[in-house]
Amino acid sequence: MRTVPCVWVLLLAAAPARAQEEKPREAAPPYRFVHITDIHFEDSGRLDWGVRNAKGFGEFVAFMNETMKPDLVVLTGDLVQDITQERPFKDLPPTEHVSQLRKFKEALAKLRAPCAVVGGNHDWTEFEEIFGHRNTRHDGPVAFVGLGLKHTNRPLGWGVFEDADWLKKQLDGESIVFLHHPLDFPTFQNPGAVRKILEDSGKVKLVLQGHLHGFRDNPQKGIHYVTGPMFGTKGNGFLVGEIHKDRIEIVRWGREDGPWKPSGKPHVIAR
Ligand SMILES: [Fe+2]
Repeated sequence: MRTVPCVWVLLLAAAPARAQEEKPREAAPPYRFVHITDIHFEDSGRLDWGVRNAKGFGEFVAFMNETMKPDLVVLTGDLVQDITQERPFKDLPPTEHVSQLRKFKEALAKLRAPCAVVGGNHDWTEFEEIFGHRNTRHDGPVAFVGLGLKHTNRPLGWGVFEDADWLKKQLDGESIVFLHHPLDFPTFQNPGAVRKILEDSGKVKLVLQGHLHGFRDNPQKGIHYVTGPMFGTKGNGFLVGEIHKDRIEIVRWGREDGPWKPSGKPHVIAR
């Protein structure tokens, strides 16, 4: 512990009471997180729009580093396109997909903010090979708990969440859960079982998800199921969340021909 010189102690003791009144402390800035989903990165040159998405993601990283400076970036899958599932490219080996995931990871490594990432149905089991995990957790003012599915049917993207015990252990305090497949829309085997764990915990007010390629906020039983806009299309949309003492505010961001801008009123979720 630092000691205070004695002379300063005497001066402070003699100072008028008004001078000792503290100025009102400025409120701490809210914790800011960004949610980006469905990037469908593909820089091999085989798809014009895939190259555009790869370029757009590089610009997103620069925008985060230079302007937005969030405390956390949450990515909810379909990081890459996986053209090995598309007709003219079906003869390409799965290594092509792995190569794109590696390139995406290299692009993501340029992000200065911490990131929390889960895979989507276009990322498949190779996601774990590259990123080293299926589920993940990042601790901020609340816990960000990321869920990954075990994929059971590659062409259709069907899957199942098999880590219920792990999830229950993570919900030890206020949490934001994030995953690719919506919990409020039937796109995998057991969304109802996962929803029940979240409801029973009483610790979750917000779920961030992707896959539907369009924004929506669907509150059910006190939990907001918020689906992010598709990044990998015109507008390069994403969500910006701010965690205040009593609420979470979520705003959509996008761009036309100029820089990214917010649009619409914030979605306010009471804590
Ligand atoms: Fe997608």
